Amino acid sequence: MILVTGASGQFGKNAIDHLLKKGNSPAEIAVLVRDKSKAKSFEHTGVDVRVGDYTDYDSLLRALKGISKLLLVSSNDRQAVENRTAQHINVIKAAKDAGVGHIFYTSFVRKPGFENSAIAAFQNSHVESEEFLKNSGVKYTILQNGIYLEMVPVFAGEKVVDSGVILFPASEGKASFVLREELAEVAAGIIASEGHENKTYNLTNTSSVSFAEVAEAISATIDKKVIFQSPEVTEFQSTLKQFGVPEMYIGMFTMWATAVAQNTMDVEDDTLKSFLGRNPTTLQQFINSVYAVK
Ligand SMILES: NC(=O)c1ccc[n+]([C@@H]2O[C@H](COP(=O)([O-])OP(=O)(O)OC[C@H]3O[C@@H](n4cnc5c(N)ncnc54)[C@H](OP(=O)(O)O)[C@@H]3O)[C@@H](O)[C@H]2O)c1
Repeated sequence: MILVTGASGQFGKNAIDHLLKKGNSPAEIAVLVRDKSKAKSFEHTGVDVRVGDYTDYDSLLRALKGISKLLLVSSNDRQAVENRTAQHINVIKAAKDAGVGHIFYTSFVRKPGFENSAIAAFQNSHVESEEFLKNSGVKYTILQNGIYLEMVPVFAGEKVVDSGVILFPASEGKASFVLREELAEVAAGIIASEGHENKTYNLTNTSSVSFAEVAEAISATIDKKVIFQSPEVTEFQSTLKQFGVPEMYIGMFTMWATAVAQNTMDVEDDTLKSFLGRNPTTLQQFINSVYAVK
């Protein structure tokens, strides 16, 4: 039996939908939520809804009973990145103790030099989780997912269509943004097939894009000129402050913009494309789906 965690989140939900779409029997699928009221969308599907929290070993041990394959969707804990590592370790320990045979873990795209990047702490959490998993003795598959295309509109700003300006200190850096649903589709395909024991996969788009290209793509879709401006970080931060953006978001935007500027997520790879059996969604296709007047 397969168990997918993070079922109340976007990735987990999509992975479960794809497992069902691929013809896996609902009787062979279990989903983990920490709040049962968030599992309503699964009621009609026939999958087994189990309750557990990454911070609560006993709940995980109960939830993982009878599971042979586990898709561990990484935590989104926003308090501290170290919390995520501890939570992943907790799940891996419980899975081992419950007799799970194979753990699939959603990690993040990484390239040499990541230790010096703006997202080093975040990356280190994945490195430590991966190391713990590899040393656990349980079969593993690591899915090093690229940065979601869905982050592009967040970084471009909600007023981009009206203002015609993207303000983001990403300079000329590029990243291989990839659609979350396609990552989830591939994860479902991998978990439901054989031959992935102790492998690590780079799952990114086949080409990387810059924010100048994001501006061009939005311009083409809305038929209005959008320009990209990459200010100094301090100027960017004081502009966001003037607009009343909370400190936490200012820090987050600065971190990701700097990471893009450092090209730390610029990893072009064909692995996702071959698992999908088609070309991954491009930036322009995604931008059309978000900004085209319906
Ligand atoms: N590649 C990227 O660009 C990118 C971007 C953002 C995030 N991520 C990572 O990828 C993961 C999946 O992405 P997503 O878009 O699906 O995120 P999401 O929609 O925020 O979903 C996160 C899921 O993790 C669950 N979760 C968090 N803490 C938990 C805990 N202590 N115990 C049990 N479940 C817990 C959440 O449950 P609740 O509904 O109960 O909160 C939710 O179901 C994220 O959690 C994050 O680690 C990757």
